Amino acid sequence: MKNIVILISGEGSNMAAIVRAAEQGRWAERFGARVAAVLSNRPEAAGLAFARERGIATAAISHKDFATREAFDAALAAAIEPHAPALVVLAGFMRILTPGFVERYAGRLINIHPSLLPAFPGLNTHQRAIEAGCRVAGATVHQVTVELDHGPILDQAVVPVLADDTPATLADRVLTQEHRLYPRAIEGWLRRG
Ligand code: GAR
Repeated sequence: MKNIVILISGEGSNMAAIVRAAEQGRWAERFGARVAAVLSNRPEAAGLAFARERGIATAAISHKDFATREAFDAALAAAIEPHAPALVVLAGFMRILTPGFVERYAGRLINIHPSLLPAFPGLNTHQRAIEAGCRVAGATVHQVTVELDHGPILDQAVVPVLADDTPATLADRVLTQEHRLYPRAIEGWLRRG
């Protein structure tokens, strides 16, 4: 079985979209793949309850319990390792990972970012896209490399920026597309083997 481990920090709506796609798209039958675990750096993350209800293993590893990024990432890796992941999926995981962690999972670590990379890496992407006068915005699924939000692009989704958009309305429109994009990108990755 190819185990997928998903890391979240909050709502987990992308994680939920992936879990539903795995069920509806019969990933176990078609690709021998399953979502094995959902881990959060925030114990209160709403997405943990969703995963638990689906019978998926969950764990919360609070970054606040660790003095350094290295120590947190070591604890995170220790929680991931028992699942022997074929793929580690960052889905709204809002921590910067250390080079050691990224290298450990090189080639099997992917992220979704709410902009059309290489435009707008980092935070406040929707506000920055509106302020820049962009006519389109979107989301990117990419491989994670040591440089933040810069790895090879696997897939993207594009939405219009409307004249009366606020960061919140644009974020909603992008997020709706993220829920189609991320499962599609993972299916593509599984299909390529
Ligand atoms: C998503 O829009 C995702 O692209 C973004 O956080 C949101 C998480 O929503 N990720 C980042 O900004 C990463 N830097 P979710 O928890 O409902 O999936």
